[in-house]
Formats: sequence, structure tokens, C-alpha cells
Amino acid sequence: MKKTLLAVTALAVMAFGSACGAGQDLPGDPAGEELVVVGMSQVGAESDWRVANSESMKAVFTEENGYRLLFEDARQKQENQITAIRRFIQQQVDYIVLMPISETGWDSVLQEAREAGIPVILVDRMVDVEDESLYVAHIGSDFWREGEAAVDWIAGTYPDRGTPVRIVHIQGTLGSTAQLGRTAALVEAAEAHESWELLAQLDGDFTQAKAYEVMTEYLERLPAGYEIDVVYCENDNEAFGAIQALEEGGYICGSGGVDVITFDATRNALTECMKGRISLAVECNPLLGPLVEETIQALEAGQTPERHRYAEERTFTPDQLTEAFIAGRTY
Ligand code: AHR
Repeated sequence: MKKTLLAVTALAVMAFGSACGAGQDLPGDPAGEELVVVGMSQVGAESDWRVANSESMKAVFTEENGYRLLFEDARQKQENQITAIRRFIQQQVDYIVLMPISETGWDSVLQEAREAGIPVILVDRMVDVEDESLYVAHIGSDFWREGEAAVDWIAGTYPDRGTPVRIVHIQGTLGSTAQLGRTAALVEAAEAHESWELLAQLDGDFTQAKAYEVMTEYLERLPAGYEIDVVYCENDNEAFGAIQALEEGGYICGSGGVDVITFDATRNALTECMKGRISLAVECNPLLGPLVEETIQALEAGQTPERHRYAEERTFTPDQLTEAFIAGRTY
């Protein structure tokens, strides 16, 4: 499967000239050395989780470990991801690793990768394609189960006693697996619990700025002092934006005030959780680089890798956290 770097570089230069795409970033080739060439299309850098995920990949796919990584940041645009995949095909990479921004719209380009004989490995989120053999493996999180952990916490914290549980829901990037799974768990639970009231579903796009903006606008429309019990944020950065908006709107975040729920559980969110401003942090593990490498190694050895691998994840409440634990967290 390995190709000489010279061939990859020459093809990149032929296809794109010297000022376009990954080809321009290829430094000099170590003479005669053969590396496994991995073309990686990352969503962007919208969240602390995403940054940790990219770092995990870059730490594993190094020349010392036998890889040439062609890393492309799509700046949260699917069309940029599709362009990157086509570039990787032109460059005849050995593997394409795709973190898909959303589930739909991948059939054609993944078909092109297959016709070029390049295995595609999905990381983090999933794709919804007619032919599931268009990718060889998926490594990520079970987002529905993460959502289930969050709604179980709400159900335990607010036992059904007839009093309403007023919930504001800030969604992640619409159509992404992370959003679909976490949203489905909440919507199903809200239907099952008569006292749960979904006050609003706001689009926070997994960013702090957007969550702050939509939450601020929403609070401005509410009557002064309107009670909110839970804000269900689909990632940490949304939680940071929501907390800022809530506090500016006169709300207190934490037990006895508004229970903010978050997903990811990165270090900054765990710090807020330990302080009590976040009531529940559901872990979503970004450190997927080693699992992706194991998959590539299995393919290099001619083995069939596991089709879906899910990272181990847990939940955190303020009483479970210590400064020492948070300091030891790598993301
Ligand atoms: O797909 C994983 C999600 O995407 C993380 O929860 C979020 O922070 C990221 O942007």
C-alpha cells in the first residue's frame, strides 16, 4: 500500500501547481523512505474538542511513526471537505480519514475514492450513504448514548412530581451525527416525561459565539425572571456561551438555579463543573488518533478492522471532580 513520497509529491505538483492545496505543504522527501500517506479532512476548529481531536491525530501520524499526514481543515464547510477528498484522490494517498461535518451528501465523492482504490476511514461522526461499503471503518462516539446519559441525569434530578421541568436546548451543527444523536435522546425523553417542557431549540453550531448570541436573543424575548430549569448544550463551547448569556440575564447557573448540561467534558468545562456552574458534563473522547492508527495498521496487515469502534466515555458532576483530576486531563 505504501507509495514513495516522491511519486505523491510529483503528482501533487502536476495536479495543482505549487500554490494550491496540500501539495504545497509537502516538505522534502527523505531519500528512499517509504511512508504511509494519510489524507485527513478535519471539520474545522470550532470547539476545544475539535482542537484536541486534531492534536491527537497529528501526534500519532508523524514521520517517526512511518506516516506522511496531509491534513486539511475544512473551516466547517462540507464543500471544502469534498474538495480535499478529491485532492487526496489526485495525490493517490494510501488512506483517507474523514471527520464528516454532516451525515448526508457523501455518496459521490466516496464512490470516487473507492474507484481510486483508496480506503476511507470515518472518524468522530458518521455518514448516511446508500452503500455502507464506501467506508471501511468508523471510530468515534455513540452520541445517542451520550444523550441518554444526560436525560437520565435530568430524570433523576427532577423526579416526575407534576411540576414542570423547563428545558432550553442548544443544538450543535444541524445534520451532524453528534447533533442528531444528542437531540434524539432529549426529544424522546421529553416525549416520555409529561412534565418536561422543551421551551426552545436554538442552533448553536457547536460554537461559543453562536450559543451566546442565540441564548442572549432568546432570553431577551422571555418575560423577566421566567424560570428555566435546564439548559441542554450539545457541547462545551455552547455551554460557555450559554452560561455567559444566562449570567448577564440575571440567572444563576448551578444547583438551585439553572442546571447547565454539557457534552465533551474538556478541561475548561470540568473546571466550570467543579465550581458548580455546570451541573453535568458528559464525556466525548477526542483522543481518537491511536484508534485510527490501529485501524490503519490492521488494514496494512491485510486484516479486516472492526467496523465501528466507540471510545469509552463517562459523566461528571461537581462532587466527583478534583483539581488534581482536572490537571491530569490532557484536553
Ligand atoms: O462530533 C463531536 C462534536 O463536535 C463535539 O461534541 C463538539 O465539541 C465538536 O465540535
